[in-house]
Amino acid sequence: MTVNQESAPATTTPDGPVRGVLDLDLPGPTISRHLYGHFAEHLGRCIYGGFFVGEDSPLPNEGGIRLDVVEALKALAIPNLRWPGGCFADEYHWRDGVGPRDQRPTMVNSHWGDVVEDNSFGTHEFMALCELLGAEPYVSANVGSGTVHETSDWVEYLTRADDSPMARLRRQNGREEPWPVTYWGLGNEPWGCGGGMRAEFYADLARQFGTYSRDHGDNRLYRIAAGAADADYHWTETLMRGLGHQLGGRSGPRHGSGLYQAVSFHYYTVPGPWQHKGSATEFDTEEYYRTLHQAQRLRGTLAGHAAVMDAYDPQRTVGLVLDEWGTWFDVEPGTNPGFLFQQNTLRDALVAGVHFDAFHDHAERLVMANIAQTVNVLQAMILTDGEAMVLTPTYHVFAMNQGHHDAARLPLALRGVGSRGEGEAAVELVSASASRKGSSVLVSLTNLDADEPVTVALDLRGAGVGEAVGQLLAAPRLSAHNTPEAPESVRPAPLTDLRLEDGTLTVQLPAHSFATVQLTLQG
Ligand code: AHR
Repeated sequence: MTVNQESAPATTTPDGPVRGVLDLDLPGPTISRHLYGHFAEHLGRCIYGGFFVGEDSPLPNEGGIRLDVVEALKALAIPNLRWPGGCFADEYHWRDGVGPRDQRPTMVNSHWGDVVEDNSFGTHEFMALCELLGAEPYVSANVGSGTVHETSDWVEYLTRADDSPMARLRRQNGREEPWPVTYWGLGNEPWGCGGGMRAEFYADLARQFGTYSRDHGDNRLYRIAAGAADADYHWTETLMRGLGHQLGGRSGPRHGSGLYQAVSFHYYTVPGPWQHKGSATEFDTEEYYRTLHQAQRLRGTLAGHAAVMDAYDPQRTVGLVLDEWGTWFDVEPGTNPGFLFQQNTLRDALVAGVHFDAFHDHAERLVMANIAQTVNVLQAMILTDGEAMVLTPTYHVFAMNQGHHDAARLPLALRGVGSRGEGEAAVELVSASASRKGSSVLVSLTNLDADEPVTVALDLRGAGVGEAVGQLLAAPRLSAHNTPEAPESVRPAPLTDLRLEDGTLTVQLPAHSFATVQLTLQG
């Protein structure tokens, strides 16, 4: 564990500073950049209006893809993008989305608003988007309502170089070379929208679909079995047992001889009951702490899945993928309930900070995570409204944490962290993690206290530090958010309350704030 927090008794705020030790010369496992991954579903305005506006749009675009959105995501060094769903993936038939656009059949998107999908954004458009972004595609194949044949053909269409039938079809549709595709998901939430299956049934089906998802030429698929909801450890155990020898065996960090290289799970932060999840922007302190409690519970859930996997795979050759995470509130009043459009406040940013610390702590097992979703849906990075584009507080956390991509986790132990609430509902008031890449160290700190500032003093050991530069994401109100009229209500600013003295880094964090400090090591 990176952070070994010793909580004070319940509902306490520490009198003095929160103290900690940061070992700069004890690098741990690599924090994969793929933990900062993304997700784009045919849902509401994520694809249409968000990523894709069509070639005839007056907005700057390339092949219909919005260039302002592309630039904003490139600035985050977006590592991967999952597509086409979500629930949508299990009713998507890829052949409907290739060939001349005006000849593509339409379909009903029954999960999301029951709208008619015209398939104008399909395989070629998605791959072009990934190329523009410099992101690796993560494709989710249809196991719920698709066929093994269809899935097998899609891999061939995407990745085969010779004169095979699917490679020929791809060429007819305008793409000569195959695309490199690594991440290949088989189904989505098979226990629910993906087919209502039992874990045992899905495990068998996954073997079948996995078998016919072939490696063509030099392309090596990283096959991801669709996993559990939240803390459904039975599902994970069934996959570990049911996929048996077909799991794992990565040689090197990502590829292997086994049929499946990873299992996934989903974890959403939902503060209220499903029918009344709560507003994204109007919430009281109690609701705020309930949200953060949910977010902090992820740490235990990750540990639970990892423990099940350890029992079957002590060498950790199988990856754990959290391919959907984020806040889920009621939709914005007046918007289509099937479109899952919600605003994004400083509260969402703190949820993201807490998630990333937990991800870093589980870097040994967790190989990828994908926030749901990138544009205009749930905990989005970007909100668009016609030609307007707004970066959310969550976007800024991704930006400020960029230094953790592919860096080595550092052990960081904190003492004297206060807590709010009791027992099951307790929230630890400070969250932190750190990593190192060469001579650069990044420390992330979140003060979850709704009302009080906190001082954090870190004893830096193992290397001399030349410089410390900090950034702060804060706002007077927890519900602060960005809109087209006020796009910079929440944005990073220099962290001025920062001191480096006698090997101790002291930082003052305002109430409800997120901060990063970059240390440059000497020598
Ligand atoms: O992200 C929205 C939906 O949440 C996804 O389509 C589904 O997988 C999950 O239930």
